[in-house]
Amino acid sequence: MPILNRMAELHDEITEWRRAYHANPELLYDVHETAQDVAQKLETFGCDEVVKGIGRTGVVGVVKGRGGDKSQRVIGLRADMDALPIEEMTNLPYASRHKGKMHACGHDGHTAMLLGAAKYLCETRNFDGTAILIFQPAEEGGSGGQAMVEDGLMERFGIEEVYGMHNLPGLEVGQFAICEGPIMASTDEFTVTIKGRGSHAAMPHLGIDPVVVGAQIVSALQAITARNINPLDPAVISVTQFHAGNTYNVIPETAMLNGTIRTLGAEARELAEKRFREMAEGIAVASGASVSIDFRVGYPVTFNHADQTQNALEVARIIAGDERVNGNATPMMGGEDFAYMLEKRPGAYIFVGNGETAGLHHPTYDFSDEAIPHGTSYWAKLVETLLPAS
Ligand code: NI
Repeated sequence: MPILNRMAELHDEITEWRRAYHANPELLYDVHETAQDVAQKLETFGCDEVVKGIGRTGVVGVVKGRGGDKSQRVIGLRADMDALPIEEMTNLPYASRHKGKMHACGHDGHTAMLLGAAKYLCETRNFDGTAILIFQPAEEGGSGGQAMVEDGLMERFGIEEVYGMHNLPGLEVGQFAICEGPIMASTDEFTVTIKGRGSHAAMPHLGIDPVVVGAQIVSALQAITARNINPLDPAVISVTQFHAGNTYNVIPETAMLNGTIRTLGAEARELAEKRFREMAEGIAVASGASVSIDFRVGYPVTFNHADQTQNALEVARIIAGDERVNGNATPMMGGEDFAYMLEKRPGAYIFVGNGETAGLHHPTYDFSDEAIPHGTSYWAKLVETLLPAS
């Protein structure tokens, strides 16, 4: 079975919403206009309840099936609304109107698709139970999903299972990909400040060079993934910034390293942090320098639960056909704060093909409007399949 007919009819309208969001990107929790527009649309569609301000600027729409209050089951569908601090370079007619802000991760498409599903579900109500449509702020590094969870999202609406979807460049439009277990990585961050002793560059023996210490730490950290963590347990340590000095003939007093650690499991995550601290501190001591470490625990591993992954697979296969659904997708080392929702409730996160576009977070990326009927059909069918009408 292909996409739902009604979704094909709604394609142009949903595309218009998507492009309007694209032109007006907002960052982190400051998604006021987007959230307002989402809430207004949900009310217009006839949601049974629309609640704003969950997790600061998150929005929730409640759609009850034909059984009304009699049916008990409740599932949550989640989209994200925020953009990125990137200068857009697409030259599209609907390109960002806000300098330095861009929908470069397709959250404009995610929001529009879940709204499309909301419109369909409000019209048809061809299910029993309750669908909770979750629009979260601050996915891009702001833990908006966590904020909504801490605001009581799951308890307040009685959500029993929760599902997420993200577009994926490189995966053909109309295809889906998912895997059971870890699908996205944990994302911890660190700052290492190395304190040495400044000196004349020509007299290094009179100082303690924090640049040399920093360089040793950068190299040594790579041995953690190569020599400490089980090679079959994925982990990445990337030092992404190295700041020191401001001229060519002075050894600076301090150096600073920033970076990120990504893993797909608790064991690797704990070991990586432990060894990271030991390496940085040990190398500093051996060099006569000192370090201070600021380690920031980030998003958890996005973990797809077994039964819900099967549910997602089944529905994706109904929409796309068996041969266009990959149930053994390779996990990615990127992060996703839907992970917090999956820690609270069983659920699954699926990728929908975005075709051969620029990659996520690239200044020429654009969400593929052709993916809309596939994504909206998946959402609608998920509700109709998991909450079948009696
Ligand atoms: Ni994203």
